[in-house]
Amino acid sequence: MSIIMVNNRTFSLIKPSAVKNDYHGEIIYLITKAGFKLKAIKMVKLSIEDASRFYAMHKGKEFFDELIRFISSGPILALVLEKENAVEDFRKLIGATNPAKAEHGTIRQQFGESITKNAVHGADSSENAQKEWSFFFSEREILN
Ligand code: RTP
Ligand code: MG
Repeated sequence: MSIIMVNNRTFSLIKPSAVKNDYHGEIIYLITKAGFKLKAIKMVKLSIEDASRFYAMHKGKEFFDELIRFISSGPILALVLEKENAVEDFRKLIGATNPAKAEHGTIRQQFGESITKNAVHGADSSENAQKEWSFFFSEREILN
């Protein structure tokens, strides 16, 4: 994959609460309706150890343990998404971390239950997106 294309991709997780409530179909529909193309998708359940590795950047924060317990509590969906300006546009589509403060119509406003159970994750930079999808996918599991 060329370096230019990497800027047009982001990584997302649909979190356990959303999958458990069967919101994932509707969430993927909204993501694709917003112009994102699905380049990889996988359903997994993370162990506590895997979750701690994935969220290593939050180690030491007061919400870390709760976040790890939650994200490893049930199946999640990992997604690689492509669109122009993918990282920024996706963060706009999902809304603020706290669903109660997320703009009307955003995915977190519609499907989030709390700051922890906020339905989806979205990478915050192209560099992190690439690191995050590499955690879940081998190269041949991601479409060109
Ligand atoms: P994400 O990484 O999941 O897309 O969320 P974000 O950038 O909006 O927020 P971030 O600061 O990266 O936090 C990662 C996840 O940790 C949980 N969190 N809980 N209780 C709290 O104060 C708190 N703060 C963050 C959220 O589930 C957030 O998505
Ligand atoms: Mg984040």
